[in-house]
Amino acid sequence: MLTSDRRLFLAAAEDPSTLRPDGRELCLEARMANRHGLITGATGTGKTFSLQNLAESFSALGVPVLLTDVKGDLAGLCRPGAPSGGVAARVDELGLRAKGYENRAWPVCFWDVFGEQGHPLRATVSDLGPALLSRLLELNEVQSGLLDIAFRIADERGLLLLDLKDLRSMITWMTENRGEFLSYGNISGASAGAVLRALTRLEGAGAEAFFGEPALALEDLFRTDLSGRGYVNILASDRLMLQPRLYATVLLWLLSELYERLPEAGDTDKPRFVLLFDEAHLLFTNMPAVLLEKVEQVVRLIRSKGVGVYFVTQNPDDIPDSVLSQLGNRIQHALRAFTPRDQKAVRAAAQTFRPNPAMNTERVIAELRTGEALVSFLDAKGAPAVVERALILPPEGGSGPLRAEERREILAASPMQRLYGTSVDRESAYELLAREQEQRREQAEARPARGRKEERSLWEEVARGAAKQATRSMTSAIGRELGRTILRGVLGGIFGGRR
Ligand SMILES: Nc1ncnc2c1ncn2[C@@H]1O[C@H](COP(=O)(O)OP(=O)(O)OP(=O)(O)O)[C@@H](O)[C@H]1O
Ligand SMILES: [Mg+2]
Repeated sequence: MLTSDRRLFLAAAEDPSTLRPDGRELCLEARMANRHGLITGATGTGKTFSLQNLAESFSALGVPVLLTDVKGDLAGLCRPGAPSGGVAARVDELGLRAKGYENRAWPVCFWDVFGEQGHPLRATVSDLGPALLSRLLELNEVQSGLLDIAFRIADERGLLLLDLKDLRSMITWMTENRGEFLSYGNISGASAGAVLRALTRLEGAGAEAFFGEPALALEDLFRTDLSGRGYVNILASDRLMLQPRLYATVLLWLLSELYERLPEAGDTDKPRFVLLFDEAHLLFTNMPAVLLEKVEQVVRLIRSKGVGVYFVTQNPDDIPDSVLSQLGNRIQHALRAFTPRDQKAVRAAAQTFRPNPAMNTERVIAELRTGEALVSFLDAKGAPAVVERALILPPEGGSGPLRAEERREILAASPMQRLYGTSVDRESAYELLAREQEQRREQAEARPARGRKEERSLWEEVARGAAKQATRSMTSAIGRELGRTILRGVLGGIFGGRR
């Protein structure tokens, strides 16, 4: 086994003068693993292997992880690796078998926002909150304001916003009856129309599968297997990545959920959970400054909850400085230095490391071979170590995609299938508002005969529905929704806060 209970053995130092491994092990201190990290390098230089190596090492330490599988090539770690070619040579070169390297399968759990390549990963509209949703829907300021109002009214009236059709009927209904909501601000028909069109676009892209119930319960990501290894949760991201905003939304929502729901962990000897985000530049593309500030804040604070976040991307430049400066553990694979612009990027990347007097960092970055990297982890005191040239250990699990039937078998055998396999559509805003609308129509028709006295108050029915729900909430997940409203009030919400 290549980890002890304190350290993750990830790479072997290389003697830069001979390019031979000089026998020293470069380890990431488990205690420092919640100080986050970054894996960078040009395409094909070994980033995904490094990410897999990290995931396996955490799993071996008993730390569950979630990683995004952008090309479908990480799914293979559910079976033992079969090294050949350069990978086998690396295993020999580093004498890894004598150190306990053994090709083995890792416990995996597949998730998929679209419900095709994994257990459906869902969140409710209300879980997501108006800020992330506005960004996902590409709303302007006025339209986001309208969305805020919809959330406020829904919160106050106890109308559950679970799936997109709840949100749609909430907006339609609130606009049709806007005379009753004058105190909330301007509810313009044009803005409502724009929000509804944006919802239609989102549904057209297949994103409605993400919204609804059963929503993901975080504890289902924190599982360990019988031998104590952490589960590697693999989020299928090949299709998801084609919708960068949805990809970013799902990951930011996960971050904020972890942040809001986990208790403080204090100083621990290893993280509680680790997130590994491939193609991380997609998270930050066109991110509005206000949201970026929140992300920066969550990344900073989530450390104390015992969560480590590792970003994988081509160039450190892809990550905003305020986030970059918080990524303590670094693996830099080769960068190309063809054009003056490349050279500038290489120089910038080199400058982010603590220099090693024995080596010209900038030159070495351009020289690195596949599976070779510049490495600097935080030492036991939390200071970045001097940068070293290193050979990254190959993963022990397999790599590459799974056959469809292999994946199906794994999914069918997982206890998560029973919990998440089938979507549930319980009574929420859509059903209640439809009933309310129906009632109004009946009353309008019956009015001359019955007289006004018997007419039900506008809210009686909705309130009754909400009360019924509140009763049920003792035993059902509705309590969670109500709790969420309160939580949003207390924290002001990281992403979902009411303004
Ligand atoms: N540590 C390593 N030891 C031995 N071989 C490696 C190592 N890392 C990578 N390789 C070889 O290089 C190939 C490409 O690596 P990998 O898929 O990790 O690159 P990448 O940087 O993720 O590329 P992309 O940007 O295209 O996703 C691997 O399939 C493997 O053959
Ligand atoms: Mg890759």
